[in-house]
Amino acid sequence: MQVISKIAELRPRLNSERAIAFVPTMGNLHEGHLNLVRLAREHGDCVVASIFVNPLQFGPSEDFDKYPRTLEEDCLKLQGLADVVFVPSASEMYPVRQSVFIEPPPVANELCGASRPGHFRGMATVVLKLLNIVQPQVALFGKKDYQQLHVIRQMVMQLNLPVQIVGGETVRAADGLALSSRNQYLSAEQRGKAVFLYQTLQKIWQAMLQGERDFERLERQAVELMQGQGWSVDYVAVRNQSDLRPADKLQRELVILAAARLGNTRLLDNLEVTID
Ligand code: PAJ
Repeated sequence: MQVISKIAELRPRLNSERAIAFVPTMGNLHEGHLNLVRLAREHGDCVVASIFVNPLQFGPSEDFDKYPRTLEEDCLKLQGLADVVFVPSASEMYPVRQSVFIEPPPVANELCGASRPGHFRGMATVVLKLLNIVQPQVALFGKKDYQQLHVIRQMVMQLNLPVQIVGGETVRAADGLALSSRNQYLSAEQRGKAVFLYQTLQKIWQAMLQGERDFERLERQAVELMQGQGWSVDYVAVRNQSDLRPADKLQRELVILAAARLGNTRLLDNLEVTID
């Protein structure tokens, strides 16, 4: 496995590769990331992962400075799974002050975008830069960040980018909590409570299975339930899988999404469901 930090070294290394599968990350790798890297092997002869904590996608009061950076451990974990790890510095990615951005679709202003203004613009911009640098045939992203995956699919489709996007299933801890680099911010007590987020999504699904179709009521009830348990809730939303618009009664493929804070730690999760 080669670890490369310069674009000028990466390009000649990848130039002769015909089937590159690429997994972009911000590092602090866990099984959710590693599962995507393993899945990448099924989609390419040359597996490339990147590790870059992208300043453009963090708001001024967010955790950019304290975001966990564990490059050495990350490289050990990728050994045997990836062929190349791209680890650019901020000045390699942004040699001039970035003034050209991707304008994401309007749905990027809702859900996570409502409480993280500019997040998806910064995320889409760095993903496009990484796709241009690595030039993969396939790029893999986790369904855990469902809205991110949607924004990327729209960018690729609307800009005719020559890459296939593959979504990987969410990897969870034994109790059901979706793995996330931010889980380590949780105290032991908060970690015990954290699975309630996923359980709330499952409760909504149970109610839908029993015939409940008033999605706004389900959303309201879920918010109240979580607030009662000490959560500060950004949103609970039942949406169409296809366009992430509020679920309409004719759609069968839905996704229940939520983001909420325990103390200062913001967690998100979602559950794809199909109604008969
Ligand atoms: P990061 O949070 O490091 O996640 C990298 C990839 O791993 C994303 O596609 C994310 O959806 C996926 N992932 C994270 N946790 C997962 C889990 N529990 N199960 C399955 N997949 C999981 O997402 C980003 O970085 C950045 O926004 C990035 C796309 C790299 C752009 O900076």
